Amino acid sequence: MNQQITRMSPSVFVLILLCLMPIQSSSSSPTLTITPRILKKSGDTVLIEWSNVSSPSNLDWLGIYSPPDSSHDCFIGYKFLNTSPSWASGSGSISLPLTNHRSNYSFRIFRWTLSEVDLTRLDEDHNPLPGTAHLLSQSEPLGFAAGRGPEQVHLAFTDVESEMRVMFVAEDAEERYVRYGEEEEKMDEVALARVERYERDDMCDAPANTSVGWRDPGWVFDGVIKCLKKGVRYYYQVGSDSKGWGTTHSFVSRNEDSDETIAFLFGDMGTATPYSTFLRTQDESISTVKWILRDIEALGDKPAFISHVGDTSYARGYEWLWDQFFVQIEPVASKVAYHVCIGNHEYNWPLQPWRPDWAKTIYGTDGGGECGVPYSLKFHMPGNSSEPTRTHAPATRNLYYSFNNGVVHFVYISTETSFFPGSSQYNFIKNDLESVDRNKTPFVVVQGHRPMYTTSNDKKNARMREKMLEHLEPLFVKNQVTLALWGHVHRYERFCPLNNFTCGSMGFNGEKSEAFPIHVVIGMAGEDWQPIWAPRANHPNVPRFPQPQRSMYRGGEFGYTRLVATKEKLILSYVGNHDGEVHDRVEILASGQVLNNGGAGGSICSVTAGSGPSGAGFEVADSKFSWYVKGASLLILSAVMGYVLGYISRSRKVNSLRKTWTLANTEAVDTACGVLGLGDSVLLQFLHSFVLKCIRIPLPP
Ligand SMILES: *[C@@H]1O[C@H](CO)[C@@H](O)[C@H](O)[C@H]1NC(C)=O
Ligand SMILES: *[C@@H]1O[C@H](CO)[C@@H](O)[C@H](O)[C@H]1NC(C)=O
Ligand SMILES: *[C@@H]1O[C@H](CO)[C@@H](O)[C@H](O)[C@H]1NC(C)=O
Ligand SMILES: *[C@@H]1O[C@H](CO)[C@@H](O)[C@H](O)[C@H]1NC(C)=O
Ligand SMILES: *[C@@H]1O[C@H](CO)[C@@H](O)[C@H](O)[C@H]1NC(C)=O
Ligand SMILES: [Fe+2]
Repeated sequence: MNQQITRMSPSVFVLILLCLMPIQSSSSSPTLTITPRILKKSGDTVLIEWSNVSSPSNLDWLGIYSPPDSSHDCFIGYKFLNTSPSWASGSGSISLPLTNHRSNYSFRIFRWTLSEVDLTRLDEDHNPLPGTAHLLSQSEPLGFAAGRGPEQVHLAFTDVESEMRVMFVAEDAEERYVRYGEEEEKMDEVALARVERYERDDMCDAPANTSVGWRDPGWVFDGVIKCLKKGVRYYYQVGSDSKGWGTTHSFVSRNEDSDETIAFLFGDMGTATPYSTFLRTQDESISTVKWILRDIEALGDKPAFISHVGDTSYARGYEWLWDQFFVQIEPVASKVAYHVCIGNHEYNWPLQPWRPDWAKTIYGTDGGGECGVPYSLKFHMPGNSSEPTRTHAPATRNLYYSFNNGVVHFVYISTETSFFPGSSQYNFIKNDLESVDRNKTPFVVVQGHRPMYTTSNDKKNARMREKMLEHLEPLFVKNQVTLALWGHVHRYERFCPLNNFTCGSMGFNGEKSEAFPIHVVIGMAGEDWQPIWAPRANHPNVPRFPQPQRSMYRGGEFGYTRLVATKEKLILSYVGNHDGEVHDRVEILASGQVLNNGGAGGSICSVTAGSGPSGAGFEVADSKFSWYVKGASLLILSAVMGYVLGYISRSRKVNSLRKTWTLANTEAVDTACGVLGLGDSVLLQFLHSFVLKCIRIPLPP
């Protein structure tokens, strides 16, 4: 940066002169090559090399396309060439691990100029999307080897204990199978998989139904292995003799007689991409999967499963991100059942059928026009709940269901469709909770996406919480739900046992007779935009966020929770991604008595000494400060083109720095969001006026 400044600042006049000259001055055209030309499977890396790019610019970029004939603006992602250390010499290389989207890839290099920065075409982070007016070079297509078998394998329980569902995606509808057995060398049992798919016109809105967002999703296969023994490891493979068999995986079958239950639970994880794209992606999801995989491997032959309580892929209408997500979770989802709740980012669209007046601002466009279709077809959860989409799109499934696992009864609900008395979901929850056999499963865990309790400053969902408190909390309290787990707020927060905002339960010594549900928000698995904690009511602008007494522990660290229960005791632990260690823990006895209601050390005192609610506030205050500083330094350096160029071409990096901050998400407008909005608009307005007033071409190096 400094180098550029000293190099360029004396050259303003040259710059102005240069802007009258054509962009591509040299006659030699750049080369763009890829090695290898065929990848074996998702995750394999391609090396993309270019040379002979004349007058290299900070804004030169590599577009990643699949299928290869996509129009210029329909890339799936991009990288600036300056991510290669040698870019300034006109040649360089970028390595990319790629996901198999069942069609070939191609790569293109474009020159983008500052005058072409279009401030009406921004990505989710408010970075301008790169322009495609000047194609410099285009690669040969890159393919994936045939015959390697399907990918994106993920498991789920069915309504029958002795079964396991195996789902995967393939490039055509030809018959595929699951073959399995107790020995890796003897997988001689076979189950035929059912197949389904969805089409572009099943999508309800943009971007899902546009040529930017839509891609062929392939064929979704769904096989059920039956008559499994209890608690036994099975090896399996999916595919067919004619189209090839995939990698061998294994799982340990369910065992309802087990006196132990192990689960990994979190919400709002998302997926990571090795390139920038239209949406913010979730780099932290890599760590979450990594630590859970560590835990699963450490379990040996003990069964376990995963619960992802909504906002799963965050694809939001960009179809290829679903492939990316399922490839990313395959290492865990092929070993243990992967269970989900529906979240706003799988579903919400303007014409969703249940959208009462009070919910008009709550149920927005967060699903990116998918209207629950990929979620409904790519997952297949127990039960047969469904709600019509009221379009010709398939009905929305996987809304509410339950199953026993060892000593715990798990219930999954939908906060995106009606849970009001009279609705089929309400009836399901009521009947289900009332019919739990507490001798068999002394613990009951209910999960949904939007929280009933949070102390984040998420004002937008206030009415939702009121309605949930009004209609659902009485059912939870009456039926002595042990734990209520929620996502949506991208933090960890554990409450005392609650009824109507009041800590109750059996008291720390078990002296009372009633056991109230403990609510825990577990939306910290990957997505990072987040409202601050609620400030003091009488000092809304002061960064002090008192932790109400009912909030026992707050954590801003990414991670997941681990549930381990025996007939006597359930333990829920919060594992942080930065170190893979436990940072909070609660133990609940079968009687409902809470043993260590305090923080990580088991101390009740951590109500106030907890993980520093003020931390978040100061981070936000810092971010505000740094945005002002950034705006000011831009003004100071406004004569230096290189700075602005550098800013745009590095904006992805700048934005990834933001990931260490705690930001408001767009659907929960609050103070922090206001801070961000201000920072962004100051910067963009500045950039805008700069671009309009001062159109110049960068100085060649
Ligand atoms: C780069 O361009 C020069 C001049 O046109 C040409 O001689 C050279 O072969 C090119 N190099 C490559 C790698 O294409
Ligand atoms: C995909 O790319 C491979 C390797 O370049 C090529 O052999 C194959 O014909 C391509 N397939 C299609 C459908 O274009
Ligand atoms: C996408 O869906 C919206 C809402 O139904 C519709 O207005 C729009 O025309 C559709 N776009 C495409 C490209 O089909
Ligand atoms: C599925 O739906 C039918 C009614 O259509 C109902 O009788 C049955 O109990 C449901 N199955 C489950 C597992 O919920
Ligand atoms: C909840 O508490 C508030 C305030 O203490 C009280 O006004 C309200 O009636 C209570 N609601 C229920 C359902 O008990
Ligand atoms: Fe979320």
